[in-house]
Amino acid sequence: MIWRKTVAKKSLIAASAISLGAVLLSACGDDSDSGNDAAGGGGDDSITMGFAQVGAESGWRTANTKSVQDSAKAEGIELKFTDAQGKQENQIAAIRSYIQQKVDVIAFSPVVETGWDAVLQEAKAANIPVILTDRAVDSEDDSLYETFLGSDFVLEGEQAGQWLVDNAADADANGDGTINVIQLEGTTGAAPALDRAEGFASTIEAEPTIEVTASQTGDFTRDGGKQVMESFLQSDDTIEVVYAHNDDMGLGAIEAIEAAGKTPGQDVKIITVDAVKDGMTALAEGKINFIVECNPLLGPQLMDLAKKVVAGEEVEPRVVTEETTFTQEQAKAALPDRQY
Ligand code: AHR
Repeated sequence: MIWRKTVAKKSLIAASAISLGAVLLSACGDDSDSGNDAAGGGGDDSITMGFAQVGAESGWRTANTKSVQDSAKAEGIELKFTDAQGKQENQIAAIRSYIQQKVDVIAFSPVVETGWDAVLQEAKAANIPVILTDRAVDSEDDSLYETFLGSDFVLEGEQAGQWLVDNAADADANGDGTINVIQLEGTTGAAPALDRAEGFASTIEAEPTIEVTASQTGDFTRDGGKQVMESFLQSDDTIEVVYAHNDDMGLGAIEAIEAAGKTPGQDVKIITVDAVKDGMTALAEGKINFIVECNPLLGPQLMDLAKKVVAGEEVEPRVVTEETTFTQEQAKAALPDRQY
């Protein structure tokens, strides 16, 4: 098999044109700071972390937020948490606020890959270490962050593509010798959307009968997946496979497929990424055919890395999350113990 890409992307970056003047941290959503500002950058041993979350777009994100909050509590780390509601300008404003508050460490999951150098340079100038969690940034300067903790999204796309290559004959529902695939992309410009598309495309090249005939963003949400799928079904009655970049969009697509009088998992094969409980339930019920796991439980590793970087210890520049894949039978076995 092909797999492996372990380094965060660091190529040319576009300058952010976002005006931040009007963006107030209070507009960023839930700032669940529970106090103890004296800890940030202060002389005691306690650690204050500023965490700028993407939003609450998916079941995966909800599980990720809970993991970060629970782990901070368990480790006695003071967490200043901001929900950026899917907006890069809100994440940048939150990071600037954490710099002003002199937190000990900043962690964030970048909503999109590009446009981070300026604010990361500000954190560096203030001597506040930054940890990328879940998603990478696209920067030429890897001194702007200490480490990147998260999944290998290209590998996830490759695993999704490999399942389809291995099951190509079964996926050709109308028996015409070609497999008509539509892709539901994650948020435009986000690392998991770019990398999962790249990994999938490079792997299905091995099977020339597979063709991606349409691809559009559903923004990692259930509603987005449903709406895009509805419009695809209206213009194309020959769709045989849906590749959705996350479970939520796949679950939205299932609703649209059922409303169109088709049977998801049979008439239309469905491949997704994440393996949250709702996705695993649909897989066990036969409505999804294959799920590539993306592990949201990053909290414990994040807190461990935070303690090390605050203590000035060396950490690995890239920490890759361990993950697996699930067939329908494997989902049935795993569901009773699924935490999220
Ligand atoms: O960055 C991880 C991705 O973001 C998850 O796959 C998706 O569900 C989420 O919104």
